[in-house]
Amino acid sequence: MMRGRTIAAPDADHGLGSGEGEALLAWYDRHRRTLPWRTAAGAADPYRVWLSEVMLQQTTVAAVIPYFAAFTTRWPTVSDLAAAPDEDVMSAWAGLGYYARARNLLACARAVAARGGTFPTTREELRALPGVGEYTSGAVAAIAFGERVPVVDGNVERVVARLLALPVPPKSAKAAVSAAVEAMLPATRPGDFAQAMMDLGATICTPRNPLCALCPIADPCRARREGEPTRYPVKAEKKARKIWHGVSFVPVRPDGTVLFRRRPPRGLLGGMLEVFGSAWGAAPAIPLDHAPFDATWHAQGAISHGFTHAELSIDVYAANVAPAIATPEGGLWMDPEAAGLPTVMRKVVVRALAEPMPRL
Ligand code: ADE
Repeated sequence: MMRGRTIAAPDADHGLGSGEGEALLAWYDRHRRTLPWRTAAGAADPYRVWLSEVMLQQTTVAAVIPYFAAFTTRWPTVSDLAAAPDEDVMSAWAGLGYYARARNLLACARAVAARGGTFPTTREELRALPGVGEYTSGAVAAIAFGERVPVVDGNVERVVARLLALPVPPKSAKAAVSAAVEAMLPATRPGDFAQAMMDLGATICTPRNPLCALCPIADPCRARREGEPTRYPVKAEKKARKIWHGVSFVPVRPDGTVLFRRRPPRGLLGGMLEVFGSAWGAAPAIPLDHAPFDATWHAQGAISHGFTHAELSIDVYAANVAPAIATPEGGLWMDPEAAGLPTVMRKVVVRALAEPMPRL
């Protein structure tokens, strides 16, 4: 679909033009990765494209594949997803991380269902949906609807940073990165071009050992010409991450069920299950004050988990308890394997059960 954009002429400065885009398409036709959300030619399902792009912002392609299969089997259309109870979707998302994204995913599915189950077809309209930002709107517009827009994810930032030998971190030169991608846009197949850039970044222009000899756009690449492509992208200075502490309590009944509660709907891990314990911050002075009830608690060691802004260390306590023990308010006894735990809680439960405890 053409939308009245002009094809950028090769720019005298960066030397990139639609010729590079065409070379990438030819490379993509031979080397594209086979991925479950890709279709042979045209006719991409917007629901599957949107769902995969939201998931891919979380983690790697390999990690996304089983989640994508589970979601699309259980909820084959956006309207099916929209009708799902919140807790089912949060559990199915468990392990992918950044749970605000799952809440937005559901809000977006419901907004699309409310307009009859069809996605809007332009980047601008897509951008108005809940949780759909610059990246997702561009990716869906290009891949599902053929809109000629530049799509920039982390892989694409790296490719462009090298092509331009960008002297600053790509995040602080968004306009230049986007303009370079736009200059390369081929006349047709913008969705394949977007995915070709991503695949190039994932398989050839990799962070540590780029395979420049196999790159279809090695010729204009300034980083390659300089001889040390891995100098790019230039990194932003890292801020020191905060250190948080917490204590967690894992009571285990003889049938293997463990006591959980649900976190408040908003904020970190909002709406997800956790075991009882302290808030996360400075180490609590008297850890046992945070136990859900009196029991013979055993110190089972500690786990650590990295969040975007903090490194969390949790001391884990566990106890075997009788089935008749009173359940504290908000408590839910569940099989930890079937509960759909966020990764940090999975680590806590695994640590709790890793060391033998005296039987009841
Ligand atoms: N990363 C994010 N979206 C992608 C896609 N559609 N193909 C390959 N890698 C991706």
